Amino acid sequence: MGKQARAIVDLSLKDLVKDLNKAYADEWLAFYLYWYMAQTVSGRAYEDIAEFLNKIAKEELEHATELADLIIKLGDVPTANPMELEKNANAPYLLPPKNSADINRIIRIVAEAEAGAIEVYNKIAKKTFGKDNVTYQLVTHILSEEVNHEEIFENLLER
Ligand SMILES: [Fe+2]
Ligand SMILES: [Fe+2]
Repeated sequence: MGKQARAIVDLSLKDLVKDLNKAYADEWLAFYLYWYMAQTVSGRAYEDIAEFLNKIAKEELEHATELADLIIKLGDVPTANPMELEKNANAPYLLPPKNSADINRIIRIVAEAEAGAIEVYNKIAKKTFGKDNVTYQLVTHILSEEVNHEEIFENLLER
């Protein structure tokens, strides 16, 4: 991002990058959790659950990529050390269930993670609305995908 592009950001760049880096950490933790549960899930309908988990894991990784790109455009860098991802995240890592066939627990874990993500992106969207339109556009795009993820898993729970 050039000088003028940064100059029109009507917010503290330092705070904004901090928020984006926290969301970046959340995305990596969500990707790892969903990917891990997709590999390990067993029991009734495990193939369907694995497919849903892999689909949304892929989107979480895309979110991490989009956030990294924006952080770099804003003149900073995403978290370099994976050991710092959990420390920087907005929420602690949710451990997968001990019983890999506990599909209801898996669904609840995803629903909880998605609810947290929705809250985080809604907060950043409110903060950047009319103040940093580029970030606003990205976070509302991510927010709409998190809303879809919550929907997919809430529907599984009701079935
Ligand atoms: Fe995400
Ligand atoms: Fe998500």
